[in-house]
Amino acid sequence: MTASLEQLRRCHFAVDLGAARTRVYVKGAGLVIDQPSTAAVNTRTGALMAVGELAEKMTGRTPDYIRVVRPVSGGTVVDIEMAQRMLRQLIGDKMRRTLRRRPRLRAAACVPHDADPLAQRAAIETLVGLGARRVELVDTLLAAAVGCGLPVEQPEATMIMVCGAAATQVAVLSLGAIVAAERVPVGGEAVDNAIVQLLRYQHELVLPSQSVRPLQLALHDNGLTSQGPESTEIHGRDVATGLARCVRVDTAAVRQAIQTPLTAVLDGIGRTLRECPPDLVADLVDRGIMMVGGSALLPGLDQMLRRATGMPVHIAERPELCAVQGLGEMLEGRIAPIVLDPLRA
Ligand SMILES: Nc1ncnc2c1ncn2[C@@H]1O[C@H](COP(=O)(O)OP(=O)(O)OP(=O)(O)O)[C@@H](O)[C@H]1O
Ligand SMILES: [Mg+2]
Repeated sequence: MTASLEQLRRCHFAVDLGAARTRVYVKGAGLVIDQPSTAAVNTRTGALMAVGELAEKMTGRTPDYIRVVRPVSGGTVVDIEMAQRMLRQLIGDKMRRTLRRRPRLRAAACVPHDADPLAQRAAIETLVGLGARRVELVDTLLAAAVGCGLPVEQPEATMIMVCGAAATQVAVLSLGAIVAAERVPVGGEAVDNAIVQLLRYQHELVLPSQSVRPLQLALHDNGLTSQGPESTEIHGRDVATGLARCVRVDTAAVRQAIQTPLTAVLDGIGRTLRECPPDLVADLVDRGIMMVGGSALLPGLDQMLRRATGMPVHIAERPELCAVQGLGEMLEGRIAPIVLDPLRA
């Protein structure tokens, strides 16, 4: 599925359409957009009211006739037309005019590792609607590995874990190609949901989405694995009465609730390692796992993985930007030509 480096070098812009955030890299200009993949639509007129941060702020606060939608779900574009409208608005008129001036506009996009032909087609159609004559697809795992500076072209194993909002992808790479990979449909959203469900069933409290992050931070001091502060205070709405209420939440219970989705991620790592030839696994014992993607910042996740796998675990610098920056490196032709052929996966 992955295009050759030569084809990627001819692309003018690259898009990482994620379940949570959309990022656009323009050749020569760098990362120009990093906004939530959200659009607010007026259901009476069909008009687009807002996109990105503004639409995200409207979530849960709109009157009946305004609907906040997410055209990307589970890493796949599910509403092509809405995704095009959102991207058009995010990119803005000025940048779009600049791009359209190119005689044969070419775009690159990263798609999840096991994206089926339908998902690939949806990504291509979305960018064709923006005026691209040709669209090159790149495996997110390869893009992220390049973006975080892993020596993917070397004949030794490197392990990458892309912790997105909708899914977690794990891969072992060597000589610029993916040796073994797994995609687990559990990401940051599943972790947030586990916390919301816990509060609902144990404390009969509906938690506003903005409150999940402070609760995660309460776990932070001592991580997910060991004893942190005993409890933390949180505001929400009572399920029965509808009134605002404040409860003290036991951090151990939150840690326990988060453990369930994370077990699936650990299983994914195990399956990837089992698929891998023993020589490569030996390399990984020293080198360890590189975590990228926004959910890599989940407080204490790295500690938990370190403890569960016994391998070194590193978090990339600006982990959420690795995939789009990897695409950028490919567009700018900053990758050693040795990976050119093996990249043709
Ligand atoms: N500091 C943080 N602590 C915990 N989680 C975080 C933090 N920052 C971002 N996240 C989580 O990271 C996720 C977004 O990550 P990212 O931007 O990589 O997703 P995406 O690329 O849109 O998703 P996907 O690749 O699955 O389509 C969200 O679920 C968000 O809750
Ligand atoms: Mg992503």
